[in-house]
This record gives sequence, C-alpha cells and structure tokens, in this order.
Amino acid sequence: MRKQIAAANWKMNLSWQKGEALLDAIHSKDYQLTADRIAVFAVPFPYLHLAQLKLQDKQNVFVAAQNCSNKKSGAFTGEVSAEMLQSIDVTYCIIGHSERREYFNETNQQLAEKTDILLEHNIIPIFCCGEPLQIRETNIQNTYVGRQLQESLYHLSPEQVQQVVIAYEPIWAIGTGKTATKEQAQEMHAFIRGQLANKYGQDVANNISILYGGSVKANNAKDIFAEPDVDGGLVGGASLVADEFSVIIDSLKK
Ligand code: PGA
Repeated sequence: MRKQIAAANWKMNLSWQKGEALLDAIHSKDYQLTADRIAVFAVPFPYLHLAQLKLQDKQNVFVAAQNCSNKKSGAFTGEVSAEMLQSIDVTYCIIGHSERREYFNETNQQLAEKTDILLEHNIIPIFCCGEPLQIRETNIQNTYVGRQLQESLYHLSPEQVQQVVIAYEPIWAIGTGKTATKEQAQEMHAFIRGQLANKYGQDVANNISILYGGSVKANNAKDIFAEPDVDGGLVGGASLVADEFSVIIDSLKK
C-alpha cells in the first residue's frame, strides 16, 4: 500500500531555538502514526541533526532536507550533496519546489539529475510539480505538469520511480491562502497517476504517493486528504504552528 504522508516544509523560517520548541510542541500532541501513515519534517540544513536527535525515539517520523545539489562533490561552494545527507541518515529530500524553480532557476533536467543522485544514496526524493496561475487560467495545466514529470522522472526504471514521492503544488495556491478545491486536487492527482500508469503500468502508479501542497491548513486537510488520489500533503505555513500541524497529521487517511 502506498504511504499517506504529512510533510512539513519549514522553508527558510525559525531560529534554532524556535525550531527546537516547535518540534517539542508537536511531539507533545497526541497523534497516531503507523508504517503507512507517516510524518516528515523538512527543516533547514543547519537543523537536520537537531531534528534527527529530537525525533529519534519517534516511530514513523522522518527528517527531510529541502534541497540537494545535482553534483556529486567538489568545488561547489554553498552546496550540500546527497552523500552528505546520507551520511547523517536523512531519509527524504524535497526537490524542485516551485520557489527553487522560480528564484534559483532550477530546470527539469537538473531535477532529473537530483532525482538520480538521491536515489543512488538511498534518499527518497519528494519531487514537486505544479503550474503557475496563467497556465491554470488557460487550462493547459495537465500538459504543463505532464511535461515536468516526463522530463524529470521518466528516465527512471519502474523500481526507481516507485521510490519517489510526488508533491503536486499549484503555484497559485502556495502561501496565498487560496487552496485548490478538493475536486481540483483530485483531478490533477488522478491525471498524474494516470500518466504514471501509462508509462509504468497501473500497479507501479498505485504504489506512488502523491501529496497535495498549497495552503493546506488544519481546517481543510481532512477534506482534501480524503480524495482517493491524494495521499497527504506538503505543508508550508501551517507546519510552523504545532496545533495546526498535529491536526494535519491526524487528517491523513486511515
Ligand atoms: P503553504 O506552502 O502551505 O504555505 O502554501 C506549501 C509549500 O510551499 O510547500
């Protein structure tokens, strides 16, 4: 069965002290996780080890990086490699977030390289895709997202692609308070799964978790996550508030 995942994306927020307090606060809440219903915390690089220490006694909770280099090692000042992440037991890594595509000019080709290098190091990529507003307004979002998948993931073998988690994040819904309706989310998730099924077969597609991201909050998570092709969420703003994120974790499908 594919996993249901509540993934927190802290982005470039919180001091060490506030991050530590947030992890403590979330873990004092009573939420239920299992091997198939997990929580992931994507924290800034300097806090990865802190998060590992804080979470080490917790079952079914994992730490993620928010990015990694597409290069193996060497003279790339300021970059962090997949090998470094593996050496501190980081299990997930977000790649291709729309903010990185927009502000750091990440391309589908570079994301294909990042996917490869992460899988080589046994780190699960959380591959983000999603369309900007003008694409949605002209109703060509399927073509746009289909191309992101094709150019970054379709070189993978069926075994490899099943390791990848996909996060569909319509850019117009990120940090705007404007959530896609549950119908819009389901429609795109079904399209993504359908594309994967065309390429890899239905069994492979059924094993891939597809998260929704974009203004997921405590008060809308349950409805969105209940959709059949929505396997949880990638959560920015609401992951910075313990009361919100613990409700979001509890909203994962059972
Ligand atoms: P948001 O961010 O929940 O604040 O909209 C989601 C994301 O960018 O991953």
